[in-house]
Amino acid sequence: MQFETLVAISAVLLAFLLYSTHHRTGLPRVGKGGPLGFILMALKSITSFTDLIDEGLNKYGGKAFVLPSMTGSFVLVGPENVDIIKSSDDTAINQPISINENLQTMYTMNSRIQGPHFQAGVARTDVTRAGYDFIPEVLDETRLAMSEAFALNADQKSTSVPLFHTMTHLVARITNRPILGTSLCRNKPFLQDVIQFTETLVVYAQLLLWFPKILRRPLYLLASSTFGGHKEPNRVLIPYLKSLIADREGGLESSASESPEEIANLEPLAMRILSISLRSIHTSSMFGSHAIFHLATLSEAERDDIRQEIIEAESECGYNKAPLSKMRKLDSTLRETGRFYSLASVDGTVVPSGYSIAVQLKPIHFDASVYPEPEKFDCFRFSKLRETEESVKHAFTTVENDFLLFGLGRHVCPGRFFASMVLKIMLSHLLLNYDVTLPDGAKEVPKPMLLSLLVMPNLTGRVIIKPRVGQAAQDLEL
Ligand code: HEM
Repeated sequence: MQFETLVAISAVLLAFLLYSTHHRTGLPRVGKGGPLGFILMALKSITSFTDLIDEGLNKYGGKAFVLPSMTGSFVLVGPENVDIIKSSDDTAINQPISINENLQTMYTMNSRIQGPHFQAGVARTDVTRAGYDFIPEVLDETRLAMSEAFALNADQKSTSVPLFHTMTHLVARITNRPILGTSLCRNKPFLQDVIQFTETLVVYAQLLLWFPKILRRPLYLLASSTFGGHKEPNRVLIPYLKSLIADREGGLESSASESPEEIANLEPLAMRILSISLRSIHTSSMFGSHAIFHLATLSEAERDDIRQEIIEAESECGYNKAPLSKMRKLDSTLRETGRFYSLASVDGTVVPSGYSIAVQLKPIHFDASVYPEPEKFDCFRFSKLRETEESVKHAFTTVENDFLLFGLGRHVCPGRFFASMVLKIMLSHLLLNYDVTLPDGAKEVPKPMLLSLLVMPNLTGRVIIKPRVGQAAQDLEL
């Protein structure tokens, strides 16, 4: 039997299994009725989740409806429910369960030995508190990483790079610099293993959902030892942590002499570090790629306008101070990217009965009474508003009922300030030092790719990068 046939049969069997475990809610469901309608919709949701949301929106006029997917059923609610979810205290609607379910952390990250919801605490306290202290390291790594990634041969004036792939590697290296230092963030095999861990974990988690709980940990161990997982990065990370701890305590045992028990004890800490990478690498690289594709479609004059503001912000704030909050045009581009794409077509969480409840983002982020001409991507949408309203209301990291990129309520993304800082440094360095355009002078952003609820940047889309030489090139002096 061919592999494709086997996958198709398994998918249909799974969709049937999901139907049989699907609870009745009394709410209308997208698609035809009965088990066949359910199965067809669950299969269709893999590539057309957004279309199915649109279908539900048109059919039920913004009222709640059920959307089957290959990872269970979603109850999709309209904007009027945002306040209820925002004020939820995890008793009726539980966000940590949703994250643990989506990532299957009990089995993939052994979260039982790490305490509940460990990564949120780290991001909310240590990462946020360190804030601007990270800027010099992030900028230093950005300069070096981009000069390597965009290096030209002697006969080249520009280079064409696959944007999402390049961003994933740049973000992995740059975000790990303040966390793990230069030796690990520049260790290419280690970074590759971290990226592989973050990419495969999401896939494993979706597959594990199809199996009984008792089988999930052994299945994860089997899959990760065959296709890669946490063990590969931990092979480097755990001895590194061990040597850091030994240095700090004055005991200088070499990492090679450690007993397996000692190494095993550091696994929870290593998993916490990997879980921060899991949270940050794909969000920031997806997000940064969407933004760069749009920056590449601007006219040279518009890009120069953004560059000018970056230079002015820097010179006003002076050496060693953070000019990032003054880069309103860049900030506006990021917020517009969040409005237009979000990360996914819904913002979801779990109600304990086992249903995922999710807010439909389209009626919120494309509401013409809040965002005029919502179908138009306008890098300057929010900076224009900030010219007349002196307010942080329109800033990238400001969370409002009509801007749900980072979620809302008690579980709103705690890593958003770190993400904003890293993205602004990366984008401003890129703009000041390189000309970025689409191949063949194209002015249309390559079509985003929809994978279940995720809105990915086009995975094969390329940009042309050309160093700006002479007095044109400037850089931040932070
Ligand atoms: C552009 C980049 C990012 C986007 C768009 C993003 C988006 C989100 C969203 C939508 C949520 C769910 C919030 C909710 O359901 O209410 C979330 C949660 C979270 N994010 Fe981010 N994120 C980004 C970057 C980061 C980074 C860089 C870190 C870590 C340094 C991080 C750490 C977390 C953590 C720990 C949570 C769970 C919070 C909790 O459950 O209490 N995120 N993020």
